[in-house]
Amino acid sequence: MDIVTERRGAVEAVGFNRPARRNAITSAMYTALRERVEAAEADEGVRVVLFHGLPDVFTSGNDIEDFQERAPRGEDAPVFRFLQAVSGAQKPLVAAVTGPAVGIGTTLLLHCELVYAGDNARFAMPFTQLGLVPEFASSYLLPLVAGYQRAAELLLLGETFDATKAYEAGFVTRVVPAAEALEVAWQAATKLAALPPRSILLTKSLLKSAHREAVRARLAVESEHFRTLLGEPAARAALAAFLAKRKGS
Ligand code: COA
Repeated sequence: MDIVTERRGAVEAVGFNRPARRNAITSAMYTALRERVEAAEADEGVRVVLFHGLPDVFTSGNDIEDFQERAPRGEDAPVFRFLQAVSGAQKPLVAAVTGPAVGIGTTLLLHCELVYAGDNARFAMPFTQLGLVPEFASSYLLPLVAGYQRAAELLLLGETFDATKAYEAGFVTRVVPAAEALEVAWQAATKLAALPPRSILLTKSLLKSAHREAVRARLAVESEHFRTLLGEPAARAALAAFLAKRKGS
């Protein structure tokens, strides 16, 4: 199972579990993730969703091979439907990040309310290096939380950065020893789940309300640019170069 779930009380944990590919996310996994998020939203027994990876990797982002074979073509593409489900989620989202969190592995965090990063977490949004543009409304949300220059550095250069820098950028709640990150996230999620659900849902809605429409609009614009650039020479060359480096190829 590339996506695993675990329910503890009113917390639904959704985990990436594809170690051989460093938890790279395929179209099928995006569909499974979206279904889990939608099911959690619809289930009165679930009050909080917790995303996590494996101890040594959160996720390496889009599966580059799958992406080339099944490039997202429109707004009904599995990846886009996942972005919409997460960015529109009403229930609180918590994340525990250990190891690399690349691309969507980092931009997903901009949609979470509480993010616990292990001190081994490494973040990157290498979109420009791949000839692409930011996704998941990160071009809107990152300047909002990090400030313009910090966001510009992270999104324009696309370099890898550590948990302290992610904390300073404002999208990590707390940096903890790697071995404790998942447990700390469970504890926080359990605390949230114990609070009055109407208060929690309304508070999240109020926190999000000023930016809801802008996020929706930016998701669509970014996706359009992303799809266009995927077909252009810079992205094709960068993605082909990644695949050519694979063992056995
Ligand atoms: N898509 C497809 N395959 C991927 C992948 C991805 N995003 N990330 C890693 N893999 C594969 C590698 O090709 C390798 O396959 P192989 O065993 O057949 O050679 C295997 O997973 C292990 O990856 P490797 O790079 O050896 O692991 P690492 O621990 O040295 O590095 C990362 C981990 C995440 C830092 C590195 O794999 C990476 O940078 N991946 C690409 C991230 C990326 O650009 N994502 C797209 C963002 S839009």
